[in-house]
Amino acid sequence: MFPSRPVRSVILGTGAYLPERAVGNDELALTIDTSDAWIAERTGIRQRHIAAADERTSDLAVQAARRALEAADMPVRSIDLIVCATSTPDNTFPATATALQHKLGARACPAFDVQAVCSGFVYGLSVVDAMLRAGQATTALLVGAETFSRILDWQDRGTCVLFGDGAGAVVIRAEPDQGRGVLATRLAADGSHYEQLYVDGGAGSDGRVGHLRMQGREVFRHAVGTMSNAVQETLDGVGLTTDDVDWLVPHQANRRIMDAVGRKLGLTPDRVICTVDRHANTSAASIPLALADGVGKGLIRPGQLVALTAMGGGFTWGASAIRW
Ligand code: UT7
Repeated sequence: MFPSRPVRSVILGTGAYLPERAVGNDELALTIDTSDAWIAERTGIRQRHIAAADERTSDLAVQAARRALEAADMPVRSIDLIVCATSTPDNTFPATATALQHKLGARACPAFDVQAVCSGFVYGLSVVDAMLRAGQATTALLVGAETFSRILDWQDRGTCVLFGDGAGAVVIRAEPDQGRGVLATRLAADGSHYEQLYVDGGAGSDGRVGHLRMQGREVFRHAVGTMSNAVQETLDGVGLTTDDVDWLVPHQANRRIMDAVGRKLGLTPDRVICTVDRHANTSAASIPLALADGVGKGLIRPGQLVALTAMGGGFTWGASAIRW
């Protein structure tokens, strides 16, 4: 393990970016057999943003990153680690994080992608936290960025209404331990669920461009159980309980999933940050988008305990506890 160092990973700033074009549920109902009423009632989603034809995942990432740096009041030259959580990279290689590094004008430093689909931000946070505490970097940029619109089957009403494009970013710095920062993170995966949520091609290894395929009901069931257990176990590990939690910031896939996770943990909806209505499921971008919203509105404040949790394809899942 790591040498014990009296440092913690502290989030100094958050940033969000959604592409300009917003597509409401009614607009989707013009081309597929769906309705605003069905989508809103079953998912809480009202609209999603779709990237412009010339916008790549790294373009979304760079906008969110600039906003996070501004919020942190940190110059880009201070960044010495860049991690991008994405399942929709610009290219099979190189990592989207390197495109982000170049577009930001950041200096030479480690830059790589983390691929854990909707759990990507929590996975990325765990990696960044470990590297900061190990002394491998001092100030990291962690971005969740996705262009899921490019891998949707726009004829499949069971999936295409659920996802959108976007990016969220955080600037994280190693600071002497004063009690605030990332307290704990737990990660898990169970690859036996591959067929319940996957992309049927792409990524270079089979030469085809793939589309997202999902058994929604199965994913729903697992999401509620894995996310609530992950939060509970993460809190248990650091001697905290759900009573201590000020804000739950879950992966934004479906309002009903978030409500069910909150119920299982005994957290009322007024302690759960929910932004899915405005951007649908943006996979790895959803938690940092929700964090940026919560911080921007003054809901998430210094000293509060924030619990993050996500579940996605693989299946992967995890949770983090952060003293803000
Ligand atoms: O980020 C992790 C990945 N994703 C998730 O977390 C998503 C998890 N799953 C879900 O959110 C939900 O399962 C869905 C939103 C995907 C579906 O909601 P549901 O309440 O589980 O609906 P269902 O799949 O049981 O479908 C109910 C009905 C079906 O019709 P029949 O068979 O009852 O006649 C579907 O064909 O709703 C129909 N349906 C639709 N109707 C209108 C499915 N999609 C649509 C649609 N518009 N877009």
